[in-house]
Amino acid sequence: MAKYNFLTPFTLNNGVTIKNRIVMAPMTEMSSFENGIVTNDEIEYYRLRSGGIGMEITGCANVSDLGKGFEGELSASKDAVLPQLSKLAQAMKSNGTKAVLQIFNAGRMTTSKILRGEQPRSASAIRAERPGLEIPQEMTVEEINQVISDFGSATKRAIQAGFDGVEIHGANTYLIQQFFSPNSNQRTDEWGGSLENRMRFPLAIIKELQRVVKNSGKKDFIIGYRISPEEIENPGIHLEDTLQFVPKLADSGIHYLHVSMGNVWRTSLNNKDDQEPINQKIKAALNGKIPLMVVGGVETPADASKSTDEFEFTAIGRELIREPKWVEKILSDDEGSIRYKLSPSDVEELAIPSPLWDFLTTVFRPIAGLSTEKDPAANFMDSVAPWEKF
Ligand SMILES: Cc1cc2nc3c(=O)[nH]c(=O)nc-3n(C[C@H](O)[C@H](O)[C@H](O)COP(=O)(O)O)c2cc1C
Repeated sequence: MAKYNFLTPFTLNNGVTIKNRIVMAPMTEMSSFENGIVTNDEIEYYRLRSGGIGMEITGCANVSDLGKGFEGELSASKDAVLPQLSKLAQAMKSNGTKAVLQIFNAGRMTTSKILRGEQPRSASAIRAERPGLEIPQEMTVEEINQVISDFGSATKRAIQAGFDGVEIHGANTYLIQQFFSPNSNQRTDEWGGSLENRMRFPLAIIKELQRVVKNSGKKDFIIGYRISPEEIENPGIHLEDTLQFVPKLADSGIHYLHVSMGNVWRTSLNNKDDQEPINQKIKAALNGKIPLMVVGGVETPADASKSTDEFEFTAIGRELIREPKWVEKILSDDEGSIRYKLSPSDVEELAIPSPLWDFLTTVFRPIAGLSTEKDPAANFMDSVAPWEKF
């Protein structure tokens, strides 16, 4: 008998067995070269964290230059990234850990400075209500089709590089979410308007990826999908929209659904009377068809055990930055030495690239485990996540 429920394997619908239920959440380290090529520092950072966990997901990688969201971001947009991307995949696959590349397009969540003079593109010409952002250009139908095909090409590169799968980043207010949201998508053609039309773009991306995977012959390649279940804006994505989208995703042939939230047990931000955790509603909507991956605030084995009692996979973000050997320490009965705080003197040992360290010690300081006091800014995690600001 495994010591904890999360140490047991899980087999996906494509027959791939993930050796345990602990996943490293996608977290950008902002450390790639200017052209999006992976640096050796990043490879060492991921290598250190693989081996114990069942699956390791990279930080978001853009699928095209116009989809870049911030400096230091990974890219899967051109063949030139392949040699280093292959080394990254190899490093991540140690000891049976599955390596997954998260792919995305930032849409309006970027600037013309980051795009080297190009105006950001989105579903509609509506500026995000965040400081420093610009009015994007509404995408033409041709551009929409191009982005769908870019996601396919990025997936082909992920396969060539040796990844076990990709995760479509449909969360955290980036382009795919911008198409789903009635806030950012006010198009009047078939790509906007009704809920059905707003689902068209994400579902078209999934189809394109499936076509690429089929052509590659790598039948067991994993396709995951990440959503943010709610927006606080009005109009915006409300839980009712998400609960209609989730069954479509369950039937679409993807292999897992990942829900991005600051806390696994979070309840609705828009309807305070509703006290049922959002993840439980989503689980019911999935109807057992595909596994649910949850994330947010998991630090201790007890936290992970509670979460895995209800949901198939538990992703861990910041705690795996602090403690790369979290699973290994549990397996070797050494839980007492699991680190829950990030000390500056451990940075080198933890292979934390300096841009990530800078980020954790500035924007993230109160919530990166650097402070012992309970800081009110921690609540920020539950609403607008700081990484959404890139
Ligand atoms: C430094 C940092 C970078 C992040 N980058 C991404 C990202 O690239 N893609 C993504 O979907 N989420 C990103 N996130 C969100 C995490 O995947 C995760 O949802 C969040 O940290 C909550 O989990 P935790 O409480 O275990 O840290 C990032 C979070 C952090 C702390």
